[in-house]
Amino acid sequence: MRSIEIEQLNAGMKIAKAIYDDNGRILLNAGAVLSFRYIDKLTSMGIPFIYVEDEIVGPLDVEELIHDRVRIQTVKALKQAAENVKMRAEIDIRQISDMVNSILDDLRGVSNLIVQLMDIRCSNMYIYNHSVSVCILSIITGMALGLDELKIKTLGMGAILHDVGKSLSEGPEHTLHGFEILRGNKTLNVTAAHVAYQHHEKYDGKGYPRQLKGEDIHLFGSIVGTANYYDNLVSNPDQNERLYPYQALEIIMAESGRALHPEVVKAFCKNIAPYPVGTAVRLNNGDIGVIISVNKHLPTRPVIKLVANNVGILLKTFPEIDLMLEKTLFINEIINEKQRQDIFG
Ligand SMILES: [Fe+2]
Repeated sequence: MRSIEIEQLNAGMKIAKAIYDDNGRILLNAGAVLSFRYIDKLTSMGIPFIYVEDEIVGPLDVEELIHDRVRIQTVKALKQAAENVKMRAEIDIRQISDMVNSILDDLRGVSNLIVQLMDIRCSNMYIYNHSVSVCILSIITGMALGLDELKIKTLGMGAILHDVGKSLSEGPEHTLHGFEILRGNKTLNVTAAHVAYQHHEKYDGKGYPRQLKGEDIHLFGSIVGTANYYDNLVSNPDQNERLYPYQALEIIMAESGRALHPEVVKAFCKNIAPYPVGTAVRLNNGDIGVIISVNKHLPTRPVIKLVANNVGILLKTFPEIDLMLEKTLFINEIINEKQRQDIFG
C-alpha cells in the first residue's frame, strides 16, 4: 500500500482503503480497480489523496485515529448545525457533544496516537471535514499538554465548532458570529464560544478580530488556532497550495513565538508524522524506500522498507531499516509519484 495524490492516479491501480461519498456510502471498496471514470469522479470530489495497493511495499497498517463511521456522523451533525444557524435556529449541542465524545473514545483507544494523513473526503463537505480534523488535532495537542478530561472535552467542543460562524459570513467576522452564536447557547461551556472568537488571533498580536497577544489569548484558542493553521496547509483542496506534512510542520515551527504560542507548537508537533506511512523517500545515502511505520516517540525517525538503491535500481529483497537505530541515516527528500513510477515501473 502507498499514499498517492489524486492528480497522479492511473487507471488500473487498485484501491487499498475504502472511499466514501458525501453521504457516507462506500463509493469504492478496497480492492476495486480504478477506471478513468472513477478517477474523474474522485478528482471532482476534491479528495487530495487515496491509498492504493503496492506489490513491492505490500499491505501497511495505518491505524485510523477515528472510525470512518464517527467522522461521517460528525460531518452530518455539523452540516445540520450550519443549517440551523442559517435558519436562526438553535444548534443541537447535545448531538455535537455526543460526536465529540465518540471522537474522544476513539482517540483514547489508539495505541500509537500519531497523526498520519488526514482523511478529507469531498470538497462540498470540506469545511465540516476540516472541523473534524481540527478537533482531532486539538484534542491530541491538549492531551500532550496534560489537560484534564473536562478541559479536553471543552477544547474539543470549541475546536469542532470553531468555524460555525462561517454559516453567516466567510470573512473575518465569522469569528465574532461564531462567538455570538455559541455564547447564546446555555448548554455550552462559554470557553468553547471564546475558541470560535479567538482561533484567528496570533501570538504576536497580528491576528483578528481583536489583535490579542501572547497569554491574553486563551490556551484553547491558541491550540485550535495552531491546529487550524496546520490543517489548512496540508488539506487545501487546491493542489498547488497543499503542502506535505513535513513542509507544513516546518512552517508551524518557524512560526513558534511569532504567530503561534511556543509551548503549543511544541506539544502540537510531537504528535504529527512528518513522513506518514506510505510515503516514498530518499535517504542521505541515496537509497530509496517507503515509510512503513512511525515511532510515536520520535516521528522524524520512522521505519523504512528499502526498495531501490542509490542509482534507482530496484532491490531483489526489500530490507527494513529503523532510523531509530541507524543514526547516520536521515531522510533527504520525498519521492513524488512521477519519480516513483520512473524507478518502480
Ligand atoms: Fe476560521
